[in-house]
Amino acid sequence: MEAPGRIWFGYIAAVAIALVGLVTLDLLAIGLAALVLVATVLGEWYRGRRAALSAAAQHADLPELVSRWARGWAYSRGFPRPEAVPGGVRVEVGEPGRRVEWVTTDAPDTLAGLVDAAGATPEAWLSVVTDSPGGVRPWFVEGGLEADTEEALMSIDLVDHAVRELPDGYRAEVEREGGVITVTVRAGEGAAATGRIAVIGTDAVADRVHTDPEHRSRGLGGAVMSLLVSAAREAGAARGLLVASDLGEPLYAGLGWHVEARLVTARSATPPTSVESRHG
Ligand SMILES: CC(C)(COP(=O)(O)OP(=O)(O)OC[C@H]1O[C@@H](n2cnc3c(N)ncnc32)[C@H](O)[C@@H]1OP(=O)(O)O)[C@@H](O)C(=O)NCCC(=O)NCCS
Repeated sequence: MEAPGRIWFGYIAAVAIALVGLVTLDLLAIGLAALVLVATVLGEWYRGRRAALSAAAQHADLPELVSRWARGWAYSRGFPRPEAVPGGVRVEVGEPGRRVEWVTTDAPDTLAGLVDAAGATPEAWLSVVTDSPGGVRPWFVEGGLEADTEEALMSIDLVDHAVRELPDGYRAEVEREGGVITVTVRAGEGAAATGRIAVIGTDAVADRVHTDPEHRSRGLGGAVMSLLVSAAREAGAARGLLVASDLGEPLYAGLGWHVEARLVTARSATPPTSVESRHG
C-alpha cells in the first residue's frame, strides 16, 4: 500500500511549483503544478478504489464463513444445527438469558429485520459480523438491544498453524466424540487447560479454549491449540475458524490465525451473564 506521506508530497509539490510559477509568472511552472495536482488526485482515487476492491474480494465469502463457523460452534456445544435465515443463521442456544441467537452479517437490508426480531424476543442475542462495529451499534440502540461484547472472527489454513510443545510438568489427553475433539491438559489430577475443536468436512471450529488462571502465560493455550489442530488435520480438516475473546485474540494471532472481521453482540433486555468469553 502507498504511504500517506507520498500523497501529501504530491499536494505540497503542486502548491510549491504553482507558487514559483505565480511569483515568476512562468506559465510552464503553473501548467506543471496543475499536472502534478491532477496526478496526485488520480493516484489517491486509484489507491482508495484498489483498497475497496481488495476488501470486497476478501469479504465476498463472509456470509458463508459465518454459517460455517456457526455450524461448527453449534455442533461443539450440542445445540441443534443452525437454521438459515435471510442474512445469517438462527441458533437455538437454549440457555437462560440466551434462548436464541441470530448470527448475521451487517448487510443493512437483512440486519433491520433481525434487529426487530431480536428486540421482540425475550432472552435473545444478536451477533453481527462486521468491519465497522461503530456502524452497527446505532442499529442496536434503535432496536432496543443492549450492546455487549466485541470479539473477532478468525480463520487459518491449518497447514500454517504454529506448533507449540507442551511445557514440562504437564500431560495432555486427547478425546474424540463424533466430530468433536477435546484436549485436556493436566498438572496433577485437575485440568490446567482445555479446548475443543469440531470437525465438519474440511472445517475445524475451535471452541471453549480455557486455561486455569493459575496456569496462564506458560504456553498451555498454545499447546492446546497445537494438539487440537493436529488432531483436526488427522480427521481431514483443512480450514480453521473460531471467534476469539480479547484474551484469546493475541494468542491465536501468534499461532498464525488472522482476523476476518469483528463480531459484535447485543442482547434483548435480560440480566448480564458473567462469562469471560461469549463464543470462544
Ligand atoms: C486465552 C487463554 C486461553 C490463553 O491461555 P494461556 O495458557 O495463558 O496461553 P499461552 O500461555 O499459550 O499464551 C498466552 C501468553 O503467554 C505467553 N507465553 C507462552 N509461553 C510462555 C512461557 N513459557 N512463559 C511466559 N509466557 C509465555 C504467550 O507468548 C502469550 O503471550 P502473548 O499473548 O502476549 O503473545 C487464557 O487467557 C484464558 O483462558 N482466558 C479466558 C478464556 C478465554 O478468553 N478463552 C479464549 C476464548 S476465545
